Amino acid sequence: MKWETKITNINNGQETIRGKKLSSLINNNTFTETIFLIWRGRMPKTAETKMLDALLTAAIDHGIGTASAMTARIVASAKNSLHTALTAGILAMGERHGSAIENAAKFFIENKNNKNLVQTIKDLKDKKVRLAGFGHAVLERDERSENLLKIAKKLGFFKDICKIATATGKELNNISTKHLPLNIDGAMGAILADMGFDPNIMKGVFITARVPGLVAHIYEEITNDTGLRRLSENEIDYIGK
Ligand SMILES: CC(C)(COP(=O)(O)OP(=O)(O)OC[C@H]1O[C@@H](n2cnc3c(N)ncnc32)[C@H](O)[C@@H]1OP(=O)(O)O)[C@@H](O)C(=O)NCCC(=O)NCCS
Repeated sequence: MKWETKITNINNGQETIRGKKLSSLINNNTFTETIFLIWRGRMPKTAETKMLDALLTAAIDHGIGTASAMTARIVASAKNSLHTALTAGILAMGERHGSAIENAAKFFIENKNNKNLVQTIKDLKDKKVRLAGFGHAVLERDERSENLLKIAKKLGFFKDICKIATATGKELNNISTKHLPLNIDGAMGAILADMGFDPNIMKGVFITARVPGLVAHIYEEITNDTGLRRLSENEIDYIGK
């Protein structure tokens, strides 16, 4: 069985990534540049490196209270290996945490030329559909998104999709009982789309950004080793028979 790939070639012990010598990348390029190369198949321009670096930095961690960090730490506290706890943390990401990026970008792209955007948003709200990329459990404002959009404007990546994301946020907030900021998933999805990224790779961008944060949480958990994390009995209300 033959497998075809355009990613990596190893010939006589010499490795190339997307046609670039790995030895040259090690000596001359940054991790962010190499990530861009392996995902997009070409070296990034300076502005692309800066933007991708800012996106990865913005999503590196969001505290111990997130579903992924909590899960990773609980699993680590049960004396599992680092990679088991890390995988558990990644698997805790879902449409409400860390995985809204793809659907957010798809919605913005699909509605790029929608002349009835206001009505579309109203219809979805009436159907109680939550728009991916908006809202936050604890934040009124998402400074990560605000900073990223500012950088996108400066670097020339605030294009059609970022404009639609901003317009969607404005309309959604006109009809929402609760203030729903454009969150990190929404901002990342919009900017990555304006950078030409396919939505189908975007969850991978978020996971790549969050893995160092999860590793830090797991390392802290196993270093402190304060014992098995579990609910205490007074935190459990039995409401059955
Ligand atoms: C992130 C999220 C789970 C936080 O939820 P929350 O703050 O606990 O929100 P609540 O469940 O208290 O909802 C409050 C109100 O806002 C609405 N709402 C919340 N997020 C919404 C969204 N993205 N789109 C439309 N309405 C939304 C709810 O329907 C509810 O309306 P109602 O009072 O008329 O019933 C939620 O905003 C959401 O599902 N967002 C979309 C997914 C997403 O982007 N996730 C990534 C988060 S970084």
